[in-house]
Amino acid sequence: MLVQGFDHFVVPVNDIVVAEDFYVDVFGGKIVKRNGLNVKSQSLGPHTFMDIAGKRIGVYLQKTERGQAIATRGAPTYSFTTTKHGIEEVIDALARWKITFEGPQKNSHPFAVTTLFFADPAGNNFAIYVPSVDGQSTPVTGQRLTGVGYLELEAPKLDESIKFYQAVLGFELLGRGEEPKSHRSQASMRMGSGQYLLLTETAFGPKGYPMSRKIPGPHLGFYVAPQQWRDALAQLDTLGIPNGDRGEEAKGRHAGGTAGTYMDDPAGNVIQYITEGMS
Ligand SMILES: [Fe+2]
Repeated sequence: MLVQGFDHFVVPVNDIVVAEDFYVDVFGGKIVKRNGLNVKSQSLGPHTFMDIAGKRIGVYLQKTERGQAIATRGAPTYSFTTTKHGIEEVIDALARWKITFEGPQKNSHPFAVTTLFFADPAGNNFAIYVPSVDGQSTPVTGQRLTGVGYLELEAPKLDESIKFYQAVLGFELLGRGEEPKSHRSQASMRMGSGQYLLLTETAFGPKGYPMSRKIPGPHLGFYVAPQQWRDALAQLDTLGIPNGDRGEEAKGRHAGGTAGTYMDDPAGNVIQYITEGMS
């Protein structure tokens, strides 16, 4: 298993200040670092990293508005695991924000006991759920949210996306069915770590940002153990997946033993491999 698991995500937003307030208030996040607001880092554009459920989650300022109606459910959906109490706290916070939600819904997925669906003020779809026993374990973080959960992504060419996530990221195809709300074809996949990926056959919607492995911006981060870093890069070469570290210079990544590389999935999502503690 070269890729350990889904680690973090950075989503496009149309207002960094509103996003910071929302992620802190609703998700119980803590602001870790604001970027792109000084002369040295301005070329990267404004983006903020927050600690949510012990993971580094980012919001990146879009270049344009998305021009799409906000819905409580849709693809992509980012998700976190939580507890029964966590769901209640998020419902209270969403009510304060006057944001509509769907749920809590029972057994919406085989790996979830109860799920709440909503969108952030920028229109990013989120789900928070209490994992079922044979789903993900619930690490004790003492936070409202307990971990990064499943991921639902757009896959306009479903077969191509399935192949990519099998060959590159080591996901196993569990089955094909349909998304219960939209009745679109959907593939269900799982990683060795137990994390789930749902690929929905739908168009790649507007992100308000040029999505490319070459342009610093929103992405999905997968963790690779330091001892497997070289093998993971060699495998990308073997598979002929173009990749590179677009942020090495600006982020001073070579200094701290952190390494990263970025690639595009068949739909247009940007995937990052990240490792830490390289000597
Ligand atoms: Fe990242």
